[in-house]
Amino acid sequence: MAGPVPVASSLSDIYTVDAIGTQAKRWNNLLARFQTIYGQPAEFVARSPGRVNIIGEHIDYSLYPVLPMAITADSLLAVSTKVASTNTKEGHYKIKIANVQDAKFPAHEFDIPYEAVDIDATVHEWTNYFKSGLRGALELLRKKHGNDFEPKSMQILMDGTVPAGGGLSSSAAFVSSSALAVMVANGEKTVDKTELTELAIVSERAVGVNSGGMDQSASVFSERGSALFVSFTPSLKVRPVSFPKTNPELTFLIAQSFVTADKFVTGPVHYNLRVVECSLAAAYLNAVLNPPGTQLPSDASPLSVSLHGFHETYFALQEHSSGATKSKSTESQLEELVALTAEKLDKRDGYTREEIAAVLNISVDELNKKFTSRFPVRAEKFKLRQRALHVFSEALRVLKFMSLLEQQPTNTDDTSEYNAQLGDLLNQTQDSCRDVYECSCKEIDELCSIARKAGSYGSRLTGAGWGGCSVHLVPAGKVKAVREACEREYYSKLDLSEEQKEAAVVVSKPGSGSAVYLVDDKPGPVVVDDRDRGSEVY
Ligand code: ATP
Ligand code: GLA
Ligand code: MG
Repeated sequence: MAGPVPVASSLSDIYTVDAIGTQAKRWNNLLARFQTIYGQPAEFVARSPGRVNIIGEHIDYSLYPVLPMAITADSLLAVSTKVASTNTKEGHYKIKIANVQDAKFPAHEFDIPYEAVDIDATVHEWTNYFKSGLRGALELLRKKHGNDFEPKSMQILMDGTVPAGGGLSSSAAFVSSSALAVMVANGEKTVDKTELTELAIVSERAVGVNSGGMDQSASVFSERGSALFVSFTPSLKVRPVSFPKTNPELTFLIAQSFVTADKFVTGPVHYNLRVVECSLAAAYLNAVLNPPGTQLPSDASPLSVSLHGFHETYFALQEHSSGATKSKSTESQLEELVALTAEKLDKRDGYTREEIAAVLNISVDELNKKFTSRFPVRAEKFKLRQRALHVFSEALRVLKFMSLLEQQPTNTDDTSEYNAQLGDLLNQTQDSCRDVYECSCKEIDELCSIARKAGSYGSRLTGAGWGGCSVHLVPAGKVKAVREACEREYYSKLDLSEEQKEAAVVVSKPGSGSAVYLVDDKPGPVVVDDRDRGSEVY
């Protein structure tokens, strides 16, 4: 799985057969528009997909493992580096960037100084996502080639089909494809997937959202036909996960709520606030459960202290002091942490800054500096109890889900009971997201209950929540019934275009991750399959 980002020689390397016709038209349209806008052909296309998360919600930034998979919808960046330098400022390179949806995402031109990429995270501007990929990629290029490295000018046309703010991570698809495009434009013949993912994780935070690492990992590493188990400690690791053969066969349906959840806009009261609450909970539990003076390890989480860091420290100290020779299983550790949290964090209405600072033995100013200065948050009280309970119990559900997948069903003629166990874990995740983590919304709750009544084994929000998308584990024979129920009871009440109605509920098959397609090598329409059927172009 690790290794270089693949260079696709044909669209068949990227998409499944059923998607090829539509995708080939889209790619050819992108390349033709590139020629029209810039008066020359693109040299290559960088591609990264969106993702749907199966289980493990809002725990990646606490450094617990998650199970997403890539989807077909993606971000494409067509690029050429042959940019006329006549009007570029001295000591600068030029970035011209346009979007096929030019009414929504207007074109821009930037002269960027060699030394630094300035990103104004106070404004909500689509090109910030490109710039964050650019900044991260240039840091890596400087590490490789020295500080005098001079970036190339680029002209770019973007086409993204992941719905923006729809919970399917259009942002990570965009940032990962941007970073990949910058690496290739600057002459990197091979781009290491782990390096690309790590830089995309850190650099996406420059747009003002303190996100974890699930989306970028799924976007870069996924392989067609498999979900992806992503773990973050001691370092980023991924492995493909297959679903066992079941009867009835299992299908994942993605259903849009059409409630746009823009994390940039609501960050101070939603996403970024949750990140702060989780780190504060880690610091608080460390202060009340570990010996005085214990420092949590500084880790790769957005605020450098995480619930996972507390988890490891707590049990390492317990084992050391009891002289235990055998470690407890991670499942029993998480069960113990759920019980300890319920006991030690007993204030259900939340904790003020003063109350937390007193327990951490620091001033409120120090607390603000450490936890709330990087990304502003708005809260009188921090719900440490609820957030820690969600994280530990969700981490446990991921382990249970994985062990079910590894066990395989016993009665292969009828796996209904096994399917229901998987679905039940998804339903428990939704309950916890709705009631404990408070990241659902009434529209998603409604879609979940409609789908369950129509035969879904398990239904829940996917991605950040507060709108966006839901995911449903549905027996193949019930897909039609679930789709019809959603249409009848939910979508018919909204004012949707034909295109939106079409995209509202889709069956999601695990897709492939990032790829580069070199146009230079193959002038003319994109190649669809040059291995099995001879070159066929659309
Ligand atoms: P989630 O993170 O919940 O999975 P998401 O990634 O789609 O959902 P955000 O993280 O809020 O949502 O990112 C959405 C932003 O990404 C948009 O507001 C826009 O700035 C940028 N973006 C996404 N798709 C495109 C696109 N096709 N063209 C230009 N900008 C885009
Ligand atoms: C967003 C973030 C991810 C993750 C999810 C919630 O998609 O970008 O890092 O935190 O929300 O699981
Ligand atoms: Mg996002």
